[in-house]
Amino acid sequence: MKTIPKHVAIVMDGNGRWAKKRHLPRLAGHQAGVEAIRRIVKAAVAEKIAVLSLFAFSTENWRRPAEEVSNLMNLLLTALQSEVKKLHKNNICLKMIGDQQGFSKKIQESIIKAEALTANNTGMKLIIAANYGGRWDILQAVKKCVLAVQTGHLTADQIDETIFSNYLATVEFPEPDLFIRTSGEMRISNFFLWQFAYTEFYFTETLWPDFNEKEFLKALTSFTQRERRFGLTDKIKEGSRA
Ligand code: IPE
Ligand code: IPE
Ligand code: MG
Repeated sequence: MKTIPKHVAIVMDGNGRWAKKRHLPRLAGHQAGVEAIRRIVKAAVAEKIAVLSLFAFSTENWRRPAEEVSNLMNLLLTALQSEVKKLHKNNICLKMIGDQQGFSKKIQESIIKAEALTANNTGMKLIIAANYGGRWDILQAVKKCVLAVQTGHLTADQIDETIFSNYLATVEFPEPDLFIRTSGEMRISNFFLWQFAYTEFYFTETLWPDFNEKEFLKALTSFTQRERRFGLTDKIKEGSRA
């Protein structure tokens, strides 16, 4: 039986290098990156992936030159305004995760609108992580836990992995089964830290704007060949984890 990952999480990296190779401004790389997002969303739907999460902007990316940050914010806003109808038409449910207080009012409003429009869609769930960091996520969860204890809704003893996960930004979603990072970098760069505990990792040299359906299928095939043991032995792992 072919095992399809339920949740695929991708660090879309290499836009800048793609542009540099072509003597183009970095913005051209980010624009080509949006094209790649369209392709991969389509491919993920075709492959019946339940949840696709894409790392679009990290909490550290604010440290880039102001012009690049501004270009990325404009792209995010345009994408939110122009792509959402298409997502809706395809029955995709959009969820943005990250610290949205960092965004302009205009972006914050577009996020609310986009999520509301697609909220009842029953197809693939598309998570866009923007102004997201794994450390931010863990910290905001810790703060909520502390508050729940202070207000008497929880005791410190009750906090276990399940309860803690309920405070993470990914509460509604299964943990990622497959992590893909493009552009040859082999690091997490502060994406899902808690959630990656048992995720399978796949790295490719392909730059994100060149990433296509064929490459995506290659990653899925690699996943099907892995043996996931979750700390158990191969004999007893079957059926032990959903
Ligand atoms: C990924 O491409 C997009 C974002 C981080 C927003 P990069 O912009 O990091 O491209 P490289 O890594 O410089 O090639
Ligand atoms: C990770 O890529 C963040 C996103 C793709 C949004 P970076 O390009 O920011 O990561 P580093 O700096 O190479 O680790
Ligand atoms: Mg990069």
